[in-house]
Amino acid sequence: MTGGVERPPPRVTVVEVGPRDGLQNEPGRVPTAAKVSFVEALAGAGLRVVEATSFVSPKAVPQLADADEVMRSLRRRPDVRYPVLVPNERGLERALAAGADAVALFTAATEAFAEANVRASIAETFERFRPVAMRARTDGLWLRGYVSVAFDCPYSGRVAPESARDVALRLFDLGCDEVSLADTIGTATPGDVARLLDVALRDLPGNRLALHFHDTGGRALDNVAIGLDHGIAIYDSAAGGLGGCPFAPGAPGNLATETLLACLAGRGIETGVDRLAVEHAVAGLRDAIASAA
Ligand code: COA
Ligand code: ZN
Repeated sequence: MTGGVERPPPRVTVVEVGPRDGLQNEPGRVPTAAKVSFVEALAGAGLRVVEATSFVSPKAVPQLADADEVMRSLRRRPDVRYPVLVPNERGLERALAAGADAVALFTAATEAFAEANVRASIAETFERFRPVAMRARTDGLWLRGYVSVAFDCPYSGRVAPESARDVALRLFDLGCDEVSLADTIGTATPGDVARLLDVALRDLPGNRLALHFHDTGGRALDNVAIGLDHGIAIYDSAAGGLGGCPFAPGAPGNLATETLLACLAGRGIETGVDRLAVEHAVAGLRDAIASAA
């Protein structure tokens, strides 16, 4: 099954994850108002999906402990989706109370990473997700799923493409509208990406698959190119190349949204996003962090 993909796709959806994947790992204190302005500026730049924050345990990710306030303060645009990360039912309750209409569940392709990140086995993460997904469906929420460490795991090494594919399949079976395959530690090579997509596209809907690259090895754009060749039309990136995962040692920034946009524009692929406006959003955030320090 390829989900009717075009290779390369004429248009790509850029999923902005900076306010979540980026800021969850920001060492400096970021004022809540600066987070809200950042999300608003990114949406204003033409990004149609901006992952706004994360309703995980504030003990696990203190940087995003103000998720409720961020979501409540946000002036939302009707044409933009603002997914929030949710690890369990408690997270969903908080997200709904704050008015979220899109949520993202996250699990991993390896047991070791699931244990480190959410203190659960992969099977246990799906136990947690079942009530969340049911509620999401009855409440009409848009649902995203993440497969962390889809290529390499900092604890257990290389990941078999079939393992990542199987977890993605379970997320689709659960009712996810979209599933993102994440190179959480940024070590995937173009060959790895091709191998995973060749396996994944046999069983998964290609038009609902996203790729999420970190730029640790400097190969994120080469990896995007492989994704495009396979017809994948959804890419996650973080404005300013912010971020990384606090539970993935050595994970530096995500692929920068500006870099991704320049690459796509160079290939004549439409995104509808204004790159300069993204740069302004990043400058605004950096100023706010500097003056809060
Ligand atoms: N929001 C707020 N608090 C939460 C919560 C949520 N979604 N889920 C759990 N908690 C609180 C509990 O109330 C409890 O608080 P207490 O110690 O004051 O009683 C504490 O967190 C532990 O809860 P428990 O259910 O035992 O969870 P755990 O310790 O097994 O941790 C997770 C599981 C998933 C909640 C936690 O590991 C987590 O939030 N991880 C997120 C990791 C992450 O965001 N990684 C980056 C994204 S890839
Ligand atoms: Zn990431």
